[in-house]
Amino acid sequence: MHQGVKQDEPIVILTGAGISKESGLSTFRDADGIWATVNVEDVATPEAFAANPVRVHDFYNQRREALQREAVQPNAAHEALARLERDWPGGVLLVTQNIDDLHERAGSRNVIHMHGELLKARCGFCDHVQGWRRDLGTDTACPACGRAGRMRPHVVWFGEMPFMMEAIAEALYTCGLFISIGTSGNVYPAAGFVATVREAGEARTIEANLEPSEGASHFHEALYGPASKTVPELVERLLATVA
Ligand code: APR
Repeated sequence: MHQGVKQDEPIVILTGAGISKESGLSTFRDADGIWATVNVEDVATPEAFAANPVRVHDFYNQRREALQREAVQPNAAHEALARLERDWPGGVLLVTQNIDDLHERAGSRNVIHMHGELLKARCGFCDHVQGWRRDLGTDTACPACGRAGRMRPHVVWFGEMPFMMEAIAEALYTCGLFISIGTSGNVYPAAGFVATVREAGEARTIEANLEPSEGASHFHEALYGPASKTVPELVERLLATVA
């Protein structure tokens, strides 16, 4: 099953919105996804924020409030990945496209949010970033520089550069196993990670998704079904190989 994945080799995991679906958060491109009711260009681009900041703040204020509802909790997939990080000798890096905090709440520590974090805000004047759980508005003043009017969600919009790309590339070149979970493989650069791993060498690649992603053909192996079922099974099989 995992020929070639030695326990001293690092694992890189990429997650997308599908891993948080069973926690009650919407995906983007499913039939009931976010982009089925809101246009990307109206709420998730720098141009949209410049043209209509109130609409953009409303979009992210609603998602920030929804994320903090009692009913939204990490699911068995998030918890299994935290267990893998704790018990895999070779080390685990979790790169997520998600802006929710469910991986951290499940116990994952070595996490890169390449698309930013919904529970953080950034000042457009001084670049100060800090945790933020309440609404943001055009009148919100920056706690660091005091200026109001350009506080924004610390998230990556379309047309902006994802975060930590060098660290991610380094990890992709040196991992022994790459696992992609709950992502449709529609958005680059994340959608290109599996091809980078394949070009870099002999690492194994596994996709765990509800259905084949756009990049399905690049993976050595695929587990189709809900993440809360497939991910714990995959983690248990990996940890069973640890001496
Ligand atoms: N378990 C596993 N996979 C699931 C589940 C589930 N319970 N439910 C849905 N999925 C799968 C869907 O089949 C789909 O392939 O999760 C994937 C979600 O794909 P998208 O909605 O496109 O989300 P994602 O791939 O994370 O989007 C990437 O696009 O809009 C931008 O910045 C946004 O980070 C996001 C990026």
